[in-house]
Amino acid sequence: MTEKIVSDSKAANATSKGGAFRILMIGDVVGRPGRRVLTSRLGEIREKRDVDFVVVNAENAYNGSGLSVENYNEIIGAGVDVITLGDHAFRQKSIYPLLNAQEPRAIRPANYPATAPGRGWTIVDCLGTSERPPMRIAVMTLLGRVFINQPIDNPMTTIDRLLERVADVKIRILDFHTEATSEIQAMGRYLDGRVSAVLGTHTHVATADEKILPGGTAFQCDVGMTGAFDSVIGRKVAPVIDAFRCCRFSSFEVAENQLGIDGTLVDLDPMTGKALAIERLSFREDE
Ligand SMILES: [Fe+2]
Ligand SMILES: [Fe+2]
Repeated sequence: MTEKIVSDSKAANATSKGGAFRILMIGDVVGRPGRRVLTSRLGEIREKRDVDFVVVNAENAYNGSGLSVENYNEIIGAGVDVITLGDHAFRQKSIYPLLNAQEPRAIRPANYPATAPGRGWTIVDCLGTSERPPMRIAVMTLLGRVFINQPIDNPMTTIDRLLERVADVKIRILDFHTEATSEIQAMGRYLDGRVSAVLGTHTHVATADEKILPGGTAFQCDVGMTGAFDSVIGRKVAPVIDAFRCCRFSSFEVAENQLGIDGTLVDLDPMTGKALAIERLSFREDE
């Protein structure tokens, strides 16, 4: 077996890391295969790419739907700083107490009702190094409304309220969990200069539009998926085709072959929180 970490891209204004604060946002972890490739390879990626802070969307970690306490411990234990969730956030009840923690390391979309378990944002302290001071990082997540049928509030008015709560934190990362590229592009422009990064999840397909917007916000419609790529967005192929072609619905089992990790690296200026560089990262086993 051979492995390689492929850089798919580098924004035109990319710089070497230097004293920058480097975050890695990893796309939706799907089932046991997704957890396995993430937990076995993240340490190597963190070290090789000198990553300071890792955010992982794990809404599909439990057999393709939700996140259990065991999944949480496994993923955080592998070196993940914050877990974000999406429209599958509440599928596993065991996670509710962890979502309700004072400083949660797992957050659900902020535009669910206040009565729902958990919170949509968290602030994490990151130790300093010889090259940069200690950092505080705000991570937030929201759910889009186009093609997503969930009982949620307007994401733009929600983020306005959320930004007031994290006003004293320079580095602010938003996972916008959306189906429609138009909706996340609009959100990126709406927040340009007000957050460090607007990075999308949910479609499980990495988009080739990573960029730094004019106001200094890193942007990408979707960072992709972690799991089996011999699949339809992480599920075995045949039952999905059967459903689309014949309206014969069966359980969509999690796929197991061609494991990989999609993510995106963003270098941030620790003093201003603005983006200096953005780069897609595509790790595949057996390539
Ligand atoms: Fe989703
Ligand atoms: Fe997902």
